[in-house]
Amino acid sequence: MLVHILLLAFIAQVKTTSICDRKSCVCWVKNVQNEDYQGENVQCSYVEKDILKGDYELPDIVNSLDLASNKIETVHSSHLLDSTTLIELLLNDNAITKVDVNSFQLPELKRLDLSNNQLELIDEEVFSNMRKLEYLNLANNRFTTFTKMNFHHLSSLNDIVLDNNNIGPSLKDSNLFDRSGSGLTNKIKSLSISGINLNTVPDNFFVDAYDISSLIISNNNITSVFEIPFTLKHLDLSDNPIKEISAEDFTDLIALQELNLDNLLIKEIPDYIFEHLPSLRKLTLERNNNLANFSKLAFGREVLDDPAEFKLESLSLKGSRLTRLDEALAVPLGELTELDLQGNPWRCDCDFVWVKTLQLSDQYTQHLRCDKPTTLFNAKIFDLKEKYFTCESRNRGFEIAIVVICATLGFVAIWVFLCLPTRKTGCGLFKNMYGPSTAYSILPMAASFHNDVDR
Ligand SMILES: *[C@@H]1O[C@H](CO)[C@@H](O)[C@H](O)[C@H]1NC(C)=O
Ligand SMILES: *[C@@H]1O[C@H](CO)[C@@H](O)[C@H](O)[C@H]1NC(C)=O
Repeated sequence: MLVHILLLAFIAQVKTTSICDRKSCVCWVKNVQNEDYQGENVQCSYVEKDILKGDYELPDIVNSLDLASNKIETVHSSHLLDSTTLIELLLNDNAITKVDVNSFQLPELKRLDLSNNQLELIDEEVFSNMRKLEYLNLANNRFTTFTKMNFHHLSSLNDIVLDNNNIGPSLKDSNLFDRSGSGLTNKIKSLSISGINLNTVPDNFFVDAYDISSLIISNNNITSVFEIPFTLKHLDLSDNPIKEISAEDFTDLIALQELNLDNLLIKEIPDYIFEHLPSLRKLTLERNNNLANFSKLAFGREVLDDPAEFKLESLSLKGSRLTRLDEALAVPLGELTELDLQGNPWRCDCDFVWVKTLQLSDQYTQHLRCDKPTTLFNAKIFDLKEKYFTCESRNRGFEIAIVVICATLGFVAIWVFLCLPTRKTGCGLFKNMYGPSTAYSILPMAASFHNDVDR
């Protein structure tokens, strides 16, 4: 209601047709606290193809303009893109192939979203009046080379998303942070280059990115871990054909808080691999279809006894191929606030029964199920009584072996005792036992043997 009154008052003020007169646009006062901006927000998604051509005024206190999903093909100069108050502009999900050089008269703009369009290049002059731009999203466009993007004079840019542009091959020849040319500046804090067809990360790739704290390099064709910038707080290496990870890959990453290693080709989590990540709070190792081995020393030896040393808060091993986890991990894993072990083919035997001592919320127990033994296939581990977690077959073999050894030793002892030269008579008596009395002496022994086995 208040919003409407404000809006009416506001519309009355402006003389030319305001964008807010359009029924299909929604204009409201953005009332979100703790955001960069706070003021008018205009939403004109799903409106029309030539929204930029219509001679609409943008009310002069608008902070955020949403023009997403309007089938815009060319961005050109327009009253809508001329504002000294606009801080955020969303042009995502259009059909933009071209941005005219003087389109943006937006000196205060901090956030620009051009994702999901058909851009192949952007003239460097396009950004010349946008010195305050901090965030630029160009994901899902048609860029094939980085040199056609030209961001170098976006001197405030610290967060860029380039996902799903085929620029990986071109990075062999031109560095993303090329100081002389078109590259990103060393102000970059957050870089997302998921799905860019990158085969290898060239040496010294991040050498000029000395403030980078977030790197998303998932869904590429990287086969081995590269030299990771030590300033990173968040690293996503998921969905790459990485066959092996080792402790050396993750040493000295003292700032790293969140690490995603989902869907790699790794077979094992080796000893000490996460030991030297003192800030790590969140670790995901989901959908690792070859991962069958998780070393009990993955987090080092100290955490096994002293949970105070264990700073991780969240761990997910969902959907991998683990069959067991060492009981020694009960102490550190018991410290986690979130632990997802679902979707692994767990072997529910006496070695794994400890897992039931973990405090897991319902959302993490629903698909926590046994794979082996076959009698327990698909049983929910947290619904299953402890007595079913047996190592019966192994124990039975062990018992049989003990019984057989004892029996053999017994016979040898008796034989030695009775048949020594000084006890000839006794030995004769022993021989008689193979006569009618045999049944009586063998039977009780056989009976007790069976009892042992059936226990
Ligand atoms: C991915 O990398 C492998 C080996 O590095 C290479 O043989 C293959 O062609 C690459 N795939 C693509 C799509 O580039
Ligand atoms: C796990 O690793 C150990 C030692 O490296 C190896 O003996 C064992 O076969 C592995 N287990 C699986 C299931 O790969």
